[in-house]
Amino acid sequence: MTGGIESATSVFACRLRLECHVNVSRHRENQGDFEALADRHRRKPTMKKVADYGIDSPFMVISEVVLGVLFLAISFLLPHAFPVYIRWVGVAIGIGFIAMAACMLLYSTYGKLAVRNTILDSISWKGDERVLDIGCGRGLLLVAAAKHVPDGSAVGVDVWNRGAIMGNSASAALETAALEGVASRVRVEEGDARQLPFLAGSFDVVLSNFVVHDLNTAHDREQMMSEALRILRPGGHLAFVDFMFTDHCVEILRRQGMNDARRTRIAGFSSWLGTVLMLSTFQMYLVTGSKEA
Ligand SMILES: C[S@@+](CC[C@H](N)C(=O)[O-])C[C@H]1O[C@@H](n2cnc3c(N)ncnc32)[C@H](O)[C@@H]1O
Repeated sequence: MTGGIESATSVFACRLRLECHVNVSRHRENQGDFEALADRHRRKPTMKKVADYGIDSPFMVISEVVLGVLFLAISFLLPHAFPVYIRWVGVAIGIGFIAMAACMLLYSTYGKLAVRNTILDSISWKGDERVLDIGCGRGLLLVAAAKHVPDGSAVGVDVWNRGAIMGNSASAALETAALEGVASRVRVEEGDARQLPFLAGSFDVVLSNFVVHDLNTAHDREQMMSEALRILRPGGHLAFVDFMFTDHCVEILRRQGMNDARRTRIAGFSSWLGTVLMLSTFQMYLVTGSKEA
């Protein structure tokens, strides 16, 4: 019986390794385009003077502004259409929508820089680490991480969903890396957080910001956490931030052997403002942990 289980387990492990190798080599075939793009950004000086990490969830921000203006306009421009108390409810809802949009813009312009620093400060850097940023977007965390590893490297992986950030692309991340003078040690790859195109133990540090909430199901989160653990070398560190599902992620990581996985509430103005506006459903947490050596 035990022999049966052992052989089934080893067949599964072999198949997993095989799938992983196939996935990695298939992925390598597409990587040429990204190498050429990176090369172009390294050689071509960018016209931009300041790094631009884009507006997060631009369609949601626009919808909130439109709804806010609509509620305010109806409440003020049609004074006789509704009873006074309904009009005041309309005004309150309109202001609420506009405040939510303002809060999201505040996060995109200032908040995420502070969150990025919180993630990076949670790591004791030596300077030669191989870092992976899962869901790197336009390079917010990727580029700053590269600055912490003058003798190492930083890889960003993403599927570059267009709706996630305005102008979200591999090119935008590479352009920022060139602008910030770290292009020589930054690489980007296309890949899904749930099935990362890297071999086991490839990275010393795995980072991520605001990606977990983009995954639709508990199974997706389970896969992302397993993948983060798989590609981390023994003794390597994991740190990420999100405003949803972080308790579930900690539970998964502990179950999978990362015994020191924990989450810490992030303070800061935009986090508190978000908490108030979203009736306490919006709370940013930093999740950290180390893979058993
Ligand atoms: C809110 S953005 C955050 C980007 C970046 N980390 C930052 O803080 O600016 C979420 C990012 O996760 C990426 N993403 C979403 N689902 C993903 C998945 N399954 N695999 C890889 N990346 C994903 C999106 O394309 C997007 O770039």
